[in-house]
Amino acid sequence: MAAIKRLALLTSGGDAPGMNAAIRAATLVARAAGVEVFGIERGYRGLLDGEFVSLDAQNVQGILREGGTILGSARCKEFHEKPTRDRARAQLRERGIEGLLVIGGNGSLTGALALADPNESSDPVKIMGIPASIDNDIGLTGLAIGVDTAMNTIVEACDKIADTATAHDRTFIVEVMGRDCGYLAMTSAIAAGADLALFPEAHRSEEEIVGSIVDTVIAVRARGRKSRRVIIIKAEGVSVPIDRLKGLVDDALRARSPETDPASIETRVTVLGHVVRGGRPSAFDRLLGSRLANVATRALCAGDSHKMAAWMPPVDLPEEIGQRSPVDPYCWLVDLGAMLVETEHLLSGKSPLARWRAGVFDDIEDALLL
Ligand code: F6P
Repeated sequence: MAAIKRLALLTSGGDAPGMNAAIRAATLVARAAGVEVFGIERGYRGLLDGEFVSLDAQNVQGILREGGTILGSARCKEFHEKPTRDRARAQLRERGIEGLLVIGGNGSLTGALALADPNESSDPVKIMGIPASIDNDIGLTGLAIGVDTAMNTIVEACDKIADTATAHDRTFIVEVMGRDCGYLAMTSAIAAGADLALFPEAHRSEEEIVGSIVDTVIAVRARGRKSRRVIIIKAEGVSVPIDRLKGLVDDALRARSPETDPASIETRVTVLGHVVRGGRPSAFDRLLGSRLANVATRALCAGDSHKMAAWMPPVDLPEEIGQRSPVDPYCWLVDLGAMLVETEHLLSGKSPLARWRAGVFDDIEDALLL
């Protein structure tokens, strides 16, 4: 017997491939437990406007393989204000909704925690988070929904770019999404066999960034004809704009090797942009969305609240911050507040995980330039 009778779910912030898998699994799991399920369209904005739709096995059929989110998503800045959250709570109360599943990134999960703040309401809704963001910038979870698909998209694009780069002995700087987090740039650089990854966690100055690119290009160009191409993956969070970077690199290369034909050292740039966020979810993202939603929904239906389902946390968790899910040994239920604190540390480079990530890449770079 479930502890709640009705739950609602929404997707919020940037869409991520695999969100639909989470919507589907949450609907099926809750329905099986005898809990009525409502989808809220357009995230918190739809919650404020009362855009609720009933969800059952039939209307989530076949959505698993679709990118984006069938519910739509939105960014809602007003949600930072208490009167806005009061309106949201009233919408839920009016419909007898006792539990809310929020599928989204750290901004959306911050909103969820505020909505369930007992200081703001004597009877707050129960809240459960499911991490979904291609950026992988959410603390206490090894992966968020959408990261794997985005990484595959980047690697596929780099493989294609590498053909031209190899044919013409060119240097390409490929900019990828990730907001303030360099995870996608770092991991796809390894998977694509790139020569250099530029990410904000390294805290390099403009001069150091240009210097690292020039060193890489000169080292790679000393190799045989078939391996003279250079692929550099730049996270969008690196503050030097890509066109400025191209100009600085070209000038520095000309200055370092004045005897070389200028045309042969011209750098090309490609910004992958929203291409990285779209497309059908990979098998892994379908699985991840389904498994995290299974864990989160079961916990919510059992009356649990203020937590997020996490995938193999990359740090040791004390009992009061996270426990392994009783239904899936790869998933954990972590405290929502603690997760947001860790997210801040991750993004500011203070967490041991952020320092480890940046350090690993220093080592890789040294090895590449040997
Ligand atoms: O958070 C996901 C993300 O795609 C980031 O990588 C990117 O910086 C941002 O969203 C882009 O947001 P928007 O689609 O609102 O321009």
